[in-house]
Amino acid sequence: KVASPELQEAVEEVLPSLKKDGVSVYYVSRTSLTDGVSSLLDKVDEASADPIPESWRSEVTFSTPAVYIYTSGTTGLPKAATINHHRLWYATGLSLASGIRADDVIYTTLPLYHSAALMIGLHGCIVNGATIALRSKFSASQFWDDCRKYNVTVIQYIGELLRYLCNTPPKPNDRDHKVRVALGNGLRGDVWREFLKRFGDIHIYEFYASTEGNIGFLNYPRKIGAVGRSNYLQRKVVTYELIKYDVEKEEPVRDANGYCIKVPKGEVGLLICKITELTPFNGYAGGETQTEKKKLRDVFKKGDVYFNSGDLLMIDRENFVYFHDRVGDTFRWKGENVATTEVADIIGLIDFVEEVNVYGVHVPDHEGRIGMASIKVKENHEFNGKKVFQHIADYLPSYARPRFLRIQDAIEITGTFKHRKVTLVEEGFNPALIKDPLYFLDDRAKDYVPMTEDIYNAISTKALKL
Ligand SMILES: *[C@@H]1O[C@H](CO)[C@@H](O)[C@H](O)[C@H]1NC(C)=O
Repeated sequence: KVASPELQEAVEEVLPSLKKDGVSVYYVSRTSLTDGVSSLLDKVDEASADPIPESWRSEVTFSTPAVYIYTSGTTGLPKAATINHHRLWYATGLSLASGIRADDVIYTTLPLYHSAALMIGLHGCIVNGATIALRSKFSASQFWDDCRKYNVTVIQYIGELLRYLCNTPPKPNDRDHKVRVALGNGLRGDVWREFLKRFGDIHIYEFYASTEGNIGFLNYPRKIGAVGRSNYLQRKVVTYELIKYDVEKEEPVRDANGYCIKVPKGEVGLLICKITELTPFNGYAGGETQTEKKKLRDVFKKGDVYFNSGDLLMIDRENFVYFHDRVGDTFRWKGENVATTEVADIIGLIDFVEEVNVYGVHVPDHEGRIGMASIKVKENHEFNGKKVFQHIADYLPSYARPRFLRIQDAIEITGTFKHRKVTLVEEGFNPALIKDPLYFLDDRAKDYVPMTEDIYNAISTKALKL
């Protein structure tokens, strides 16, 4: 096993059990401060630069596991997805398709233990013979200076990363760089437009993929807001469908015969992809039950098996594919589905909002979940409840309007730059428990008013109807 020396404490904790299993442990450093752990870099220095003999890897095939990648998992514990050499090879195709060349310098600030940086960035770089510039931690303020310093031509992003770049104060040298391609996923339409306007004509290749999934899309026509385009060639090789999904029961809708129902174009559905030899699902290491949970059986006929992506997507009449929401994030209120990403996009347009995280919270004795949004206010701006009300009344149907707002100094993100919602959902909207300022949508006042114990109690006793 190889570990970073910063993890010394954690390594020492599990070292006895590793030793018992006969595992050798190395630090990525030239010295080691732990008994029983060797250093690696001094040995790398001494190693020959000649290619290793082929006999050493003669047993490696496409189906040999190459790496394990922990996927965060919206429910339950993280799971180690088994990535074999075929899968790794396949992922590097994204860098090829977005035109990365040998003379490119790829800048990656994402953690290497996730698939974006490791599979697409690092391995994409190796396959294309390009150069990679790594930074151990993303910094919005240093980003473009790094790009200038290392002559970066390709940047990698995920989740909210490009939004953080747009949120930095404008600088006169914003367009002074050589970046020509941005490759990643999770970019929303509003940030996409702003990013191009501010940082120049960078070709953005947004894709849809998951670490363990057997289906992906690449937005090669660079249509703003889309994750890809459904095309004939892919359709020939990959059998995927969008099917009707019941948000309340958290399962696909079945017809009278027990089979799943495809949604027509323009409608949101759950993305599933048939598990075949060409599009396999390798599952999770040592996780039979978790692997089985991602498989959907008897979908369109008895015995067929599909990979359940857990994502809701939409394909429009021009065959552009749009990401809608994670199934666990979308919630139901008053019999209507609310997509957290859509609400967040709308609120994000308000001038004083720097960042927003939308989720649904439970209200005692009510079906479904009601909308709530956590907002980070821009520096030198103030929260204005009337303004939010005006805006959402113009753009959102009443069931989708966040009933509660929570003002936070910082919005928590995951290692993959996605907004963390679980804790916020659990904490709900009780002003006695939450220290952050809370606001309540008051329809009669046409305003978001400060949330009080009285309002909270009135909701609990149903004196106040939601
Ligand atoms: C970046 O490009 C300039 C001009 O071509 C060159 O002088 C400089 O050495 C390059 N920097 C790096 C880090 O490669």
